[in-house]
Amino acid sequence: EKKISVAIDGPAAAGKSTVAKIVAEKFNYIYVDTGAMYRALTFKALNQKIRLNDEQALFGVLLDTEIELRPSENGQLVFLDNEDVTAQIRNNEVTGSVSEVAKHRSIREEMVRRQQIFGENGGVVMDGRDIGTHVLPNAEVKVFLIASVDERAQRRHQENFSKGFPSDIEKLREEIATRDKLDSEREVSPLKKAKDAIEIDTTSLSIHEVAESIMSLIEERK
Ligand code: C5P
Repeated sequence: EKKISVAIDGPAAAGKSTVAKIVAEKFNYIYVDTGAMYRALTFKALNQKIRLNDEQALFGVLLDTEIELRPSENGQLVFLDNEDVTAQIRNNEVTGSVSEVAKHRSIREEMVRRQQIFGENGGVVMDGRDIGTHVLPNAEVKVFLIASVDERAQRRHQENFSKGFPSDIEKLREEIATRDKLDSEREVSPLKKAKDAIEIDTTSLSIHEVAESIMSLIEERK
């Protein structure tokens, strides 16, 4: 039995991390949330008041930054220079700025280099925007998850509600649509379905159903 690599890509809030965690746990694979890495750098850059279009400065910060993904009971903790930033990197300011940081070539090259180290021995489920196209081009299983903007905003809204967070569905719709546009239209490794990825429209599927279909793809290929 072989430990394979699983790439899960798709637009914002399509449920990638939720299903990736379930699938990783099932096969005892490592889960790598690549979005968290871009978010952690963005969080640090905002704190240091770096201009987000200053690629040189951002790259300098990244080279001096340690981003660690630590498995925990409820998924994954994100450590930035040994400090737990799991919650902070989800705030609105980071969410609204991360695509600006992630568009720079040197930033992406360094992030991809780090991500490929996580994936080098297989047994990994990685989610992001460019995993199937650039980070793990030889992944045995590639999935591209999509859902309508409305459905994705609705899910985020529910999630906020159940956590007791304030939430405005119209703002969520706007934030999701804006981020999709920036991520799909950037020059360097834009959000795009890999040629050999299987597209799953999750709009009318449950998390469980999506996870099940990915698990059977893994069963076939491992
Ligand atoms: O997955 P998540 O929504 O946390 O990703 C946050 C942002 O990080 C994305 O909107 C995108 O700009 C960037 N990202 C990326 N490439 C990845 C993962 C995330 O550009 N592989």
